[in-house]
Amino acid sequence: LKVLSVASEAVPLIKTGGLADVVGALPAALARQGVEMTTLLPGFPAVMDAVRKPRRVPGIDNLLGEPARVLSAKLDDGRRLLVLDAPNYFARAGGPYGDTNGSDWHDNWRRFAALGLAAHELSAKFNLVHAHDWQAAMAPVYLRYRGSKVPSVLTIHNMAFQGYFGGEVFPRLALPDAAWSMDGVEFHGGVGMLKGGMVCASAITTVSPTYAREIHTARFGMGLDGVVRARSHLVYGILNGIDRAEWNPASDPHLAATFDAKRLAPRKANTRAVEAAFGLEESEGPLFVVISRLTWQKGIDVLLEVIDHLVGLGGRLALLGAGDLALEAALVEAAQRHPGRVGLRFGYDEPLAHLMQGGGDAILIPSRFEPCGLTQLYGLAYGCVPLVTRTGGLADTVIDANPAALAARTATGVVLNEANYDELSLAITRAIRLFADKSAWGRIQKTGMAADFGWDESAAQYAALYRHLVSA
Ligand code: ADP
Ligand code: GLC
Repeated sequence: LKVLSVASEAVPLIKTGGLADVVGALPAALARQGVEMTTLLPGFPAVMDAVRKPRRVPGIDNLLGEPARVLSAKLDDGRRLLVLDAPNYFARAGGPYGDTNGSDWHDNWRRFAALGLAAHELSAKFNLVHAHDWQAAMAPVYLRYRGSKVPSVLTIHNMAFQGYFGGEVFPRLALPDAAWSMDGVEFHGGVGMLKGGMVCASAITTVSPTYAREIHTARFGMGLDGVVRARSHLVYGILNGIDRAEWNPASDPHLAATFDAKRLAPRKANTRAVEAAFGLEESEGPLFVVISRLTWQKGIDVLLEVIDHLVGLGGRLALLGAGDLALEAALVEAAQRHPGRVGLRFGYDEPLAHLMQGGGDAILIPSRFEPCGLTQLYGLAYGCVPLVTRTGGLADTVIDANPAALAARTATGVVLNEANYDELSLAITRAIRLFADKSAWGRIQKTGMAADFGWDESAAQYAALYRHLVSA
């Protein structure tokens, strides 16, 4: 079975969040299921720099009015991928979606419509197209309106980002008038790319079973819950896995000391290294870590409210993140109140993220919503106990250390009901108390490390879905 996976990010080439981890891991995971997956990425500078021996795929020389071609290329690790080489769309300094100041590129509608159109042009060589998030969501739209028989899957990694643009761009998308409708891209008078993909795809998946249920509701549906309900019979929740080759504490090159569930003692060396990196004092209390985009979704404002409480009970906090500048400023103020107790690093630092999972005692993830979440899975694998909100994939992967779960030895973390001050401060109190009971804490760590969140189970679910759609 040949599948074309279309996305705007993939490790190790370009990453702003978990989408990249997932898109990067899927081909190898699906190969074990007998699926040959090829990934199509935009030719961002980082992607163009990494490709070796590119060969031109014939047939495409222009997309939506700009020169464009598709290259089949190899990475240093031998992986093959397709790159949409369209310099007027993608050869820019800055991020994949916006400039260095964080403003979205004004022509994102055209850049990512071109990506979807390229997927359509390539689709004849594949049995199925798998599109990720709004940036690839135009692929199912072009497949439908250009009469392709190739089925498609759209995976929603985050409903909050919808690719919504003014209606004036519609005539420039090279779609028939029929696509300007409820069954196409039209959405409240504008062009909704995620919405268009949702109504045109053969199936919709999202990255956890709980998030699949949540997006049926107004609270989590972000205005698209009506579309979800109308297509509910085609909506599946398939949990993300983690790449065990990249995230394995027994072999991770970014750690000061490697370890496993039978030998947790070396973790201490990582804890010391995190303390040094963040200018923190050693102490008896737990070291909490945060590795996150700094946004409303992640509940960082709620975290800010509980920092005094956390430090008051003897905890320390090391935070690595980037995003909202107002949140960064507020964090700096909190760190100044607690020298040696609260340390910050702003920016993106993959090696440091690994070290923090290997040295932190607990990772805080007080998200308001979380389609899947990967940092709690890395935390589980590394004995960095996750403290999470009961929502989305967090609810599906962390078992609260309540008395019943502790007695049954199934607890893997601490779960709060809602991202608010009362719930988070109570969860921190509970975590600090559990941490003081060394045998209980060690058991929670080991139970989490024994949990299997590799890709095999989820890849089998994707493969079954592909086969079902291809044979339908
Ligand atoms: P989201 O995709 O919503 O940001 P996930 O938990 O799914 O959340 O994935 C986040 C990914 O990005 C993880 O791999 C995490 O380790 C990584 N990450 C987030 N912020 C940083 C950062 N500042 N530096 C390094 N890695 C980060
Ligand atoms: C999104 C979500 C996150 C999920 C990731 C990968 O960025 O916010 O919860 O883990 O996609 O699917």
